[in-house]
Amino acid sequence: MSPATTKVASSLPASDVLIIGGGAAGMSLALRVAEHAQVTILSKSSLKQGSTYYAQGGIAAVLDPQDTLAAHVEDTLVAGAGLCHRDAVEYTVSRAREAIEWLIAQGVHFTQEHASQNDVPGNYHLTQEGGHSHRRVIHAADATGKAIFESLAAQVLAHPNIRLITNRVAIDLLTGAKLGRPEQGCLGAYVLEEDSGQVLTLPARFTVLATGGASKVYLYTSNPDSASGDGIAMAWRAGCRVANMEFNQFHPTCLYHTQDRTFLISEALRGEGALLRLPDGTRFMPHYHPLAELAPRDIVARAIDAEMKKTGCDCVYLDITHKSPAFIQEHFPTIHARCLKLGLDICTQPIPVVPAAHYSCGGVMVDQHGETDIKGLYAIGETSFTGLHGANRMASNSLLECFVYAFAAAEHINAQLTRIAPTDELPHWDDSQVRDSDEDVVITHNWDEIRRFMWDYVGIVRTSKRLQRARNRIALLQKEIQEYYSNYRVTTPLLELRNLAVVAQLIIESAIARKESRGLHYSLDYPNLAEKAEDTILVPPNFRG
Ligand code: FAD
Ligand code: SIN
Repeated sequence: MSPATTKVASSLPASDVLIIGGGAAGMSLALRVAEHAQVTILSKSSLKQGSTYYAQGGIAAVLDPQDTLAAHVEDTLVAGAGLCHRDAVEYTVSRAREAIEWLIAQGVHFTQEHASQNDVPGNYHLTQEGGHSHRRVIHAADATGKAIFESLAAQVLAHPNIRLITNRVAIDLLTGAKLGRPEQGCLGAYVLEEDSGQVLTLPARFTVLATGGASKVYLYTSNPDSASGDGIAMAWRAGCRVANMEFNQFHPTCLYHTQDRTFLISEALRGEGALLRLPDGTRFMPHYHPLAELAPRDIVARAIDAEMKKTGCDCVYLDITHKSPAFIQEHFPTIHARCLKLGLDICTQPIPVVPAAHYSCGGVMVDQHGETDIKGLYAIGETSFTGLHGANRMASNSLLECFVYAFAAAEHINAQLTRIAPTDELPHWDDSQVRDSDEDVVITHNWDEIRRFMWDYVGIVRTSKRLQRARNRIALLQKEIQEYYSNYRVTTPLLELRNLAVVAQLIIESAIARKESRGLHYSLDYPNLAEKAEDTILVPPNFRG
């Protein structure tokens, strides 16, 4: 499949700003540029199918007068195991209050210290999570993402300059380099209309990847189905560098249940005193770290993994039964209700939990404005690599990063709106040489295979031998998938599989390149920390510098 060079009706009118992804990052950027620009937001399936909607614990911000920006910076650096970029950390942490105030102005209702004050802004309840030395996580009970999503979506839908199109899957970026005009940077994207199967050309003066993370590359994940790393794969194919892909975070506590899909049990439970126990009731975290259950996430996940391997148990237990039912129902209504539906009352019973893939700390390399290696192409939110998270993201710093970098990118775009000419006359998608697939089993089989070997060979504990096995398998699958892609009409599962394979390869190559154990990357063959902390930067063959 390749672009032909005539213009046809399958193009949509040019947008000033095309935002691929309608989560926290995409919607907040849209609202910050829409006053002066025509904006299009695309999302795969429904808008709710991003991680934002499911976020639980909250957003980290220094709001308590006893807390300090220096402490938030220091905690982030410690959790990141020496690999965070201090400038990115200071930049983000110092803008957290502005982000929270903006969200409140958009109508987000955060939980108050006292339930009776719920309609009067101020005096917010701050919870605690792993790695934080203070209570600094502002939240809306245990459904912070839903509260943010609903407020931002209401603003987006009401805005006259924002066009929101769901059930559209961006396939690839359209760049000047592909047309022999590299100085033109990014010009828009090719997009599949999920209902009709038609591929549209979407021209834009600025294109923003806000496509979320890639944790779907693992068999067990807390993430929704959309998290197939599409933005990272598209940027890589277009010629952008990616960094630190080996640091995929495993959340320590996801519900273990044989009949239900993985569901996150928020770290805020541990922040409010919940304890991790083995099946016989013994605590184990004090043996692993002085902060015990509130140690950084990589340490807790690895400890659970080690205990499960040692004792042969299928899961460990998270116990919050020491809190009153009233407290649990006020602070964790979603988790309480979800578990109750499965016959588990968390007020009286410990919760069976296991680690699952949760967050991509690496991603598309960007500068302080969120701009990638390609002019006019931005990446924000989980799909980006800003340097904030280092080798292990601290809890609740992710939503914060979404807002801070969405604002930064919006400012950068707003300052250039009058200078850059609109794009036109772009090649349309040519599918004259392909046919409908008659072997969809290839797609489902390869999906399963990738996710399973990533879980088994590139998981919480790695070895050089397992990584090499994963490298061999992904090379074979890449060939098969590419052949399939060249011969058959594109569908969402095929596009996601193609992207998952790219992301898997990037994770494997990055993990092989790191000859040490740091943060989320733990190798039995290289158990020590290297003296110098260095990012793993992968450079695509078509990188233009
Ligand atoms: P997302 O919210 O994932 O949105 C991605 C969007 O891109 C979606 O609209 C999707 O449809 C669209 N998209 C993707 N690919 C394409 C494509 N090819 N074409 C068109 N559209 C596409 N972080 C915190 O800081 N605090 C928390 O409490 C917290 N809790 C979490 C709980 C859960 C269960 C999970 C899964 C994550 C949690 N996180 C939390 C992490 C945080 O929620 C995410 O990192 C953040 O929401 C990512 O936002 P985003 O805007 O980058 O992407
Ligand atoms: C949680 O609530 O445990 C998730 C928080 C996060 O991923 O930052």
